[in-house]
Parts: sequence; structure tokens; C-alpha cells
Amino acid sequence: MKKILILTTIFVALAIVSFGQVSGTPHNLSTVISDANMPGSFTGEICAACHIPHNGVNAAGTVLWSQTIPAAGGFTMYSSGTMTAGDLSITSESLKCLGCHDDATTIHATGTISGAGFAALGTLNGVVGTGLTNDHPVGVQLVVSADMQAPTNAKTFTNGGNEYVECGSCHNAHDNTLGAFLITTNDVSALCLDCHIK
Ligand code: HEC
Ligand code: HEC
Ligand code: HEC
Ligand code: HEC
Repeated sequence: MKKILILTTIFVALAIVSFGQVSGTPHNLSTVISDANMPGSFTGEICAACHIPHNGVNAAGTVLWSQTIPAAGGFTMYSSGTMTAGDLSITSESLKCLGCHDDATTIHATGTISGAGFAALGTLNGVVGTGLTNDHPVGVQLVVSADMQAPTNAKTFTNGGNEYVECGSCHNAHDNTLGAFLITTNDVSALCLDCHIK
């Protein structure tokens, strides 16, 4: 009896895990993008809001992307007198998030993130905008130095042989278990200290 109970518990646990990480998060857009507006007429498919198996956007880092990737020129980049890195260059790694979070690019026929299509999502604190001057720099090279290290839990993206910080350095669009789609805990600023030696 005890064995059966334990086995049942394991099966239930497995069933919950295999249900998927995206489905219970704000990135499950299948309920707010109507079937007709789903890219490629993928009705009700969670993944299709961002990826389609054929005829997706095909460029480096775009992982079979199904949405419009905005032009880099439409964003004002972070700048500061104390940064080591020179000019920031934003790539598709971040632009594909911003295609929704800029609140300017039309997401298929649904409008922008705060427009009618997404109004049903409620709080809408997901707007980053096109002015990135008040956001943690993205498209910025990570140069290892006395106060900067290569992260172990956060991620960097290789571009032209160098490592860059992008949205996906701190976020995992598939997994919201830590809240804010964080890639690792930011308890006692652990995320920040993964790169910054302060
Ligand atoms: C809200 C947008 C979004 C949704 C929805 C989404 N993804 Fe992704 N996916 C991304 C982004 C962004 C990346 C790139 C991540 C990176 O490079 O760090 C990615 C990367 C991937 C990759 C390649 C890299 C990896 O993490 O393995 C696979 C495979 C993938 N997604 C599968 C899926 C599947 C399957 C679903 C549906 C269950 C899904 N995705 C839903 C945004 C999304
Ligand atoms: C297809 C559109 C789409 C794409 C692509 C997308 N998101 Fe989102 N994201 C949304 C929507 C819609 C919400 C829900 C907004 C709300 O309800 O406040 C959201 C929510 C979020 C939130 C949580 C906001 C909160 O409520 O706390 C974070 C963090 C986030 N996204 C980061 C990202 C990152 C990073 C990427 C790229 C790796 C990305 N998103 C790609 C549409 C998108
Ligand atoms: C250096 C790490 C880092 C980078 C890079 C980063 N974020 Fe975040 N982001 C965070 C943290 C940490 C939070 C949670 C803030 C909190 O707890 O309120 C967050 C929160 C968010 C939210 C939730 C709303 C808010 O303002 O709190 C959204 C949406 C979001 N990020 C999108 C993005 C997008 C899009 C990019 C790329 C342009 C990006 N982030 C790049 C660390 C980062
Ligand atoms: C994946 C690595 C990484 C993570 C994680 C990270 N940063 Fe950064 N951060 C960088 C890089 C690289 C720069 C650009 C540094 C430079 O060129 O001087 C930067 C720049 C900054 C700057 C601007 C510095 C200036 O001189 O203007 C601040 C402030 C900052 N980060 C704070 C944070 C905070 C707070 C967190 C946690 C929420 C965080 N960072 C997480 C890599 C990271």
C-alpha cells in the first residue's frame, strides 16, 4: 500500500512536470491571441506565439521565430560615462523579446502589448518600451576584469567571438517558477553578483 502511494506520488509529480513550463505563465499567449491571429494559423498552440516549425524568421539567434523582429535603429541604447564597453549594439537575441515588450511592434493582428489584443492580460507591467536608457544595458559586451566575471547561472551570448549580455542573460522566457521569468534567483542580488564583483 505504501509502495503504491509512493509510486502514485511520483507519477503525479511527473505528470505535473511534463505539463510544461510555459503553459501556466504570462507567456502562454494562446488564450489572448485568437486562433485566427496565431502565426501560421497554429490554433491554440502555446509555442506558436513565438516559434513555428516552418517558415519562421531565419537568422542567427532567432530560433524559428514567428513574430516580427523590430529594427535595431528604433531603440535608444543605454549609455554612461563609467561603462567599460563602448557603443552598444542590440542584436536579435534582445530584439525578439522587444518585438512584444517595446509596446510598439504589432504582434500579428493582435496589436501591441498594451493594445486591445493583450488587454485581457491585466496588469501589463511587461512594457519595457523603445527607450532602453533606463534599463540594464543589453547588447553590451561582458569584458572579464577585476569587477566583472563570466557568469555561472546567468548566460552570455557569443557574437563575433565576444560575449554579450542580452535579455536572455537574466531571463528564461520558458520558465516563470522564480517570477519575472528570471533565469536564476535574485535573492540577496545573487543574479547581479553572478557577473558583477561588488
Ligand atoms: C514568449 C515567447 C516564447 C514562447 C511562447 C516559447 N518560447 Fe521557446 N524560446 C523563446 C526565446 C526567446 C528563446 C531563445 C532563448 C535564448 O536564446 O536564451 C527560445 C528558445 C527555444 C529553443 C532553443 C533553445 C532552448 O532553450 O532549448 C527551443 C527548443 C524552444 N524555445 C522551444 C519552445 C517550445 C517547445 C515552446 C512551447 C512549449 C516554446 N519554446 C515557447 C521564446 C519563447
Ligand atoms: C509574443 C510576445 C512576447 C514575446 C516574444 C516575449 N514576451 Fe514576455 N510577455 C509577453 C506578455 C503579453 C506578457 C504579460 C504582460 C503582463 O501581463 O503584464 C509577458 C510577460 C513577461 C514578463 C513578466 C512581466 C510581469 O508581469 O512580471 C517578463 C519578465 C518577460 N515577459 C520577459 C520576456 C523576455 C526576456 C523575452 C525574450 C527572451 C520575452 N518576454 C518575450 C509577451 C511576450
Ligand atoms: C541584468 C539582468 C537583466 C537583463 C539584461 C534584463 N532584465 Fe528584465 N528584469 C531583470 C530583473 C532582476 C527583473 C525583476 C525586477 C523585479 O524584481 O521587480 C526584471 C523584470 C523584467 C520585466 C517585468 C517588469 C518589470 O519592469 O519589473 C520585464 C517585462 C523584463 N524584465 C523584460 C526584459 C527585457 C525585454 C529585456 C531585454 C531588453 C530584459 N528584461 C533584460 C533583470 C534583467
Ligand atoms: C550576465 C552578466 C550580468 C548580470 C547578471 C548583471 N549585469 Fe550589470 N552589467 C553587465 C555588463 C557586462 C555591464 C556593462 C559593464 C561595462 O561595460 O562597464 C553591466 C552594466 C551594469 C550597470 C551600469 C554600469 C555603468 O557604468 O553605467 C549597472 C548599474 C549594473 N550593470 C547593475 C546590475 C544589477 C543591479 C544587476 C542585477 C539585477 C546586474 N547588473 C546584473 C553584466 C551583468
